[in-house]
Amino acid sequence: MDLKQAMTERHSVRSYLDRPIESEVSNALSEFIEECNKKSGLHLQLVLNEPKAFDGFMAHYGKFSGVRNYVALIGKKGEDEKIGYYGEKIALFAQSIGLNTCWVALTYKKIKTAFTVEKGEKVHCVLALGYGATHGVQHKSKSANEVSTGYDDAPSWFRNGVNAALLAPTAMNQQKFTLCYEDGKVRAEAGAGFYTQMDLGIVKCHFELGAEKDDIEWI
Ligand SMILES: Cc1cc2nc3c(=O)[nH]c(=O)nc-3n(C[C@H](O)[C@H](O)[C@H](O)COP(=O)(O)O)c2cc1C
Repeated sequence: MDLKQAMTERHSVRSYLDRPIESEVSNALSEFIEECNKKSGLHLQLVLNEPKAFDGFMAHYGKFSGVRNYVALIGKKGEDEKIGYYGEKIALFAQSIGLNTCWVALTYKKIKTAFTVEKGEKVHCVLALGYGATHGVQHKSKSANEVSTGYDDAPSWFRNGVNAALLAPTAMNQQKFTLCYEDGKVRAEAGAGFYTQMDLGIVKCHFELGAEKDDIEWI
């Protein structure tokens, strides 16, 4: 499965089986995360067999169970969009090798011994992962015309990009983004609210994969 196919199969999964991640799978994921760190300068870290982050009241309140593995999405303050973009690449890669995931902003505990946070950095979010008890369900979605302008008259690469963006996970499924087609370029904007810059990075990742166009000019 490639990342494009993974976009249609990925749904948030909050309940995980007690099945360890095989070393070939975790090695492939580690390598992919390292590539993302090299390209982005982020400090994304894979945490395996660490049940405490999702052990407490908050995680149960958030309906998480069996989470023992996650990616700590660490970067400098203000790097929210970049965290979204690369975090989602990792979510899709994980899906492509048979894992399930869920972005988590709130309902987990930061276990300080599980990862390294350098000066000036913070844990923006975590990406819970493992073998899901289910594969999740497709979220309710806005329409293409609700999140974009110029959709009906735009070339197919733009329309494919918008439809891929609608599959993207967003915090509380808010889908507060707009994609405007402007003379062959794409203006992507985040709406007001919590985590909308991170959502924008996730949306751009999906748009690029859906559009299958090498030289998208973002404005
Ligand atoms: C930045 C971000 C933060 C999120 N935080 C949480 C969270 O704290 N708890 C939770 O249960 N889901 C969280 N989610 C998952 C969203 O609720 C989910 O992506 C959305 O409802 C769409 O569903 P889908 O991922 O199945 O497509 C978050 C998603 C994103 C993108």
